[in-house]
Amino acid sequence: MINGYILVERSEKLCGEASLYGAKNAVLVIMASLLLSRGKSVLSNVPNSADVIQMISLLQKLGAKIFFDEASHILEIDTTQINSFELGPELMGKMRSSILVMGPLLARFRKVKVALPGGCLIGSRPINFHVKGFKRMGAKVENQGNFLEASCDGPQEKDYRIVLDYPSVGATENLMMFAASNSGKTTIINAALEPEVFDLIQVLKKMGVEVWTEAPATLNIRGAKFLKPVMHEIVSDRLEAGSILLATAITGGDVYLPQARAQDKDIFLNKLEEMGHKVEIGNGGIGVRLKAVPFTKAINFRTGVYPGFPTDLQAPMMVAQCFASGKSLIEETVFESRMMHVQELRKMGAQISIYNYGSKASVRGVGTLYGAEVIASDIRASCALVLAGLAAEGKTKVFGMHHWKRGYDGLEKKLASIGAKISFVAHHQDEDEKKMVSRPKQVTAANL
Ligand code: UD1
Repeated sequence: MINGYILVERSEKLCGEASLYGAKNAVLVIMASLLLSRGKSVLSNVPNSADVIQMISLLQKLGAKIFFDEASHILEIDTTQINSFELGPELMGKMRSSILVMGPLLARFRKVKVALPGGCLIGSRPINFHVKGFKRMGAKVENQGNFLEASCDGPQEKDYRIVLDYPSVGATENLMMFAASNSGKTTIINAALEPEVFDLIQVLKKMGVEVWTEAPATLNIRGAKFLKPVMHEIVSDRLEAGSILLATAITGGDVYLPQARAQDKDIFLNKLEEMGHKVEIGNGGIGVRLKAVPFTKAINFRTGVYPGFPTDLQAPMMVAQCFASGKSLIEETVFESRMMHVQELRKMGAQISIYNYGSKASVRGVGTLYGAEVIASDIRASCALVLAGLAAEGKTKVFGMHHWKRGYDGLEKKLASIGAKISFVAHHQDEDEKKMVSRPKQVTAANL
């Protein structure tokens, strides 16, 4: 088994231009949504990340024919021969977003049996809103051991009104996809309206589903019996963009992201400006440039559903506060256990106190962090620790590299191309076990 770590060294100012791949959180649900249609769909700007490869395996198991051209980032998925509505724990258990096949499979086969999903360790992450919504739309859902089974009558022409207790991204997406098979009107009140949800809406519309929004957060869906395959370019990843902008900010650099959509990250960009950085936005809101300043002011922020500050940028933004002047107060409101990076940042010299049962953090800017061996607990924590390493004295080894690979396609190469000192160090665990490892083999980002 190949294991290893990300080796990060203090880097000069990051400067230049970087491209963005399609959003992980959009492509996974869009891939699942293709189960609703019959025929060959073509997706472009698809990141070659471990989660995308996992979703490919999952769809292949259901009978999809798939061709992924990793060089051009084009993914062809033919769902004509989908012949199963069952998935076991070996495929479902690896990532949380596997649950997103439930809605489209229930829509297509009127029954589904899936093992409970896995995913990042960021709280209990229940799926009760998904289940409650399916039931509200006439499905019978039962939990049998480690499996969820659901069934419903044939295609419907009924109107349904669902009120989500919380605007869950996954529940909104799953229920919208199930609703795509109902030619009556389904209304989801208190829906999540993240940019990735809108990318799914674009795809559903291309398939032939009617979707329209109403203020303040209502989605209306009128489905159809036969849904067409689509061609679609995945929206650019606002979280990849945010990570590169923060790496630029932390190293005092100057980087332009031509594909970044400013509208997806207004509050995040405001916060960078509040710290003192200069943000320039291109014509029509496309293209974001960050010119960092060397001395920044600490800021307070609170995560929330879109258009609030994204929870997925909480950990990377916390790192920027370690280098700012003053005290920053941070509140995590989306997940109940998303401060696991704090203990790792403390190993690097960060002064962070956690309170209110782990939902709030107070960060005192220390100016300097020191390289250490740290462990990433989830995808975004891996990003935060890499960013910390870019500005820390000495070398930082980030273990838990699989989290990084789940969420990003070669982000290490992009960072290296604008000046970051970052590389993967691979070593074989079985060799370790035999205590035969002399020196780990170093693979530079450029060679990966
Ligand atoms: C998605 C994103 C993830 C992001 C999150 C919030 C994907 C693949 N992942 O995750 O990167 O951090 O949105 O923006 O798109 N909840 C319940 N019951 C449910 C569903 C959710 O209590 O049935 C709770 C969760 O535990 C969490 C909160 O609602 O506390 C938000 O979860 P949700 O919006 O569903 O996140 P995901 O769709 O899992």
